Amino acid sequence: FLPQDLKGLNFLVTAGPTWEPWDEVRVLTSRSSGKMGYAVARAARDRGARVTLISGPTGLLPPPGVEFVRVTTALEMKEAVEQHFEQADVLVMAAAVSDYRPRERVAGKIKKGPERLTLELERNPDILEELGKKKGKRLLVGFAAEAGDVVDKARAKLEAKNLDLVVANDITQEGAGFGSDTNIVTVLFADGRQVQLPRLDKLTCAHRLIDLVAKMVRKDD
Ligand code: PMT
Repeated sequence: FLPQDLKGLNFLVTAGPTWEPWDEVRVLTSRSSGKMGYAVARAARDRGARVTLISGPTGLLPPPGVEFVRVTTALEMKEAVEQHFEQADVLVMAAAVSDYRPRERVAGKIKKGPERLTLELERNPDILEELGKKKGKRLLVGFAAEAGDVVDKARAKLEAKNLDLVVANDITQEGAGFGSDTNIVTVLFADGRQVQLPRLDKLTCAHRLIDLVAKMVRKDD
């Protein structure tokens, strides 16, 4: 029996990678499987929240009982997140959003040609950073996948994006971050507190994160 401590709350969760096409065959992406974000969506649903899951391309099935929105690119994810942000009490951005997209999308398939080919990239908007500027009473949770100086880099993101929590994964650790069934995270709070979680399967990790989030949402009530 799980506590129904999120009853009445709207959770907006993002998961998976984005695909940034450079022709009709090839995309620029990351190794995110979506497992972490889907686990957060399931955990929030199982504790009574109304959940919207916005997902980039993954091989996972949409969790039942969750409003599911599939997107491909970072720009599509931005649009979908913005559409649902108004009603959200908590936004959890577990997606690995591509920071760049190919400047041009070529029609058809780029043919094999010279020895070297340069692909020009353009910055994608930072969804979380933009929403951090107008978060109102919402709780904003970001993820950060880092290698080296993980806590410092994650804290810099928390501050830059005006987050309440950032979940830092050290991708150099075995069993953490992209693709794996487990994660090892350090949760950083805006007030300077820090909680280290052990290696856990992603659903258990999601429940431990939600324990922390639930306390913060209740405190603000
Ligand atoms: O999907 P899995 O295989 O289970 O792996 C989980 C994960 C490693 C993908 C996930 O736990 C994770 O860490 N996601 C964030 C990956 C990341 O490196 O994010 P970032 O450091 O680029 O961005 C920081 C935060 O800003 C993230 O919450 C991200 O969603 C958000 N962001 C980033 C770029 C951008 N253009 N817009 C954003 O909103």
